[in-house]
Amino acid sequence: ATTLGASAAERGRYFGVAIAGGRLSDTQYTTIANREFNMVTAENEMKLDATEPNQNQFSFSSGDRIVNWAISNGKQVRGHTLAWHSQQPGWMQNMSGTALRNAMLNHVTRVATYYRGKIHSWDVVNEAFADGSSGARRDSNLQRTGNDWIEAAFRAARAADPGAKLCYNDYNTDNWSHAKTQAVYRMVQDFKQRGVPIDCVGFQAHFNSGNPVPNNYHTTLQNFADLGVDVQITELDIEGSGSSQAEQYRGIVQACLAVTRCNGITVWGVRDSDSWRASGTPLLFNGSGQKKAAYDAVLAALNSG
Ligand code: G3I
Repeated sequence: ATTLGASAAERGRYFGVAIAGGRLSDTQYTTIANREFNMVTAENEMKLDATEPNQNQFSFSSGDRIVNWAISNGKQVRGHTLAWHSQQPGWMQNMSGTALRNAMLNHVTRVATYYRGKIHSWDVVNEAFADGSSGARRDSNLQRTGNDWIEAAFRAARAADPGAKLCYNDYNTDNWSHAKTQAVYRMVQDFKQRGVPIDCVGFQAHFNSGNPVPNNYHTTLQNFADLGVDVQITELDIEGSGSSQAEQYRGIVQACLAVTRCNGITVWGVRDSDSWRASGTPLLFNGSGQKKAAYDAVLAALNSG
């Protein structure tokens, strides 16, 4: 096929994009997004600070704008994200203990209930593990409510929206030999053994020269899939340019296609100029909306084999 979404669909997968609500009035942006992608993630609009700016006062208008754009254009939606240490609203940032635990669970329940039936996959918990070699959980106000906060969030999400796939999502979990990857793997293994409702693991996949695509990427995806979860590449971007960038993108697509349970790939923005790290030109379209070599490599990989 001739677009990313249609080509991925022929391989039984989706190809998604992060959408920023503020850009939906840019017709070059929406033309590309509508043509190329069949899955949408709100870049910021469904996070905690956006959806519950005051405790128990929910605000869905920004998220709805993106969800409605996606659905009216025939696309599915990944929900991002229900529980995270970052982008918490001010009222939550200084909470602790039982009050925070209950506020977190209420948030998960209310947001997942509101969007019930519209979400393909939820990033239920985002970035709960520490970087570096410790393999520990990240210290956060949520973690300090007790080590079981993650499974509590997954159980609340399942109860609220039984039809959505429930994902754990993180970054720097791409290299199989890294402690963070191993720690997330052990958590997912434990959840599957104890019946905690988890369906998928999201690999954010933010790469640059200091954090290149590892040679064992396929091994990582396959090992997680072998635990009995789907794997999804959820926020892909790769800093660089030209053929070097294109070959890294190609490798990611090939790794996903080689893993039966790798359902789909989402890139974290449309054009380089839309990226959270625009100076790294990490995306598939340049600032003028033209296809880059990386785009051609991704499309070719989706269409080969
Ligand atoms: O909307 C306000 C604007 O009103 C204000 O004038 C401006 C001043 O700084 O800030 C604007 O908000 C910014 C928002 O993006 C929208 O552009 C925030 O400051 C900024 O922090 C926020 O950054 C987002 C970041 O998450 C926050 O953690 C990025 O857009 C978004 O791409 C990024 O996405 C994360 C994923 O959620 C999780 N994984 C990593 C990924 C990249 O950091």
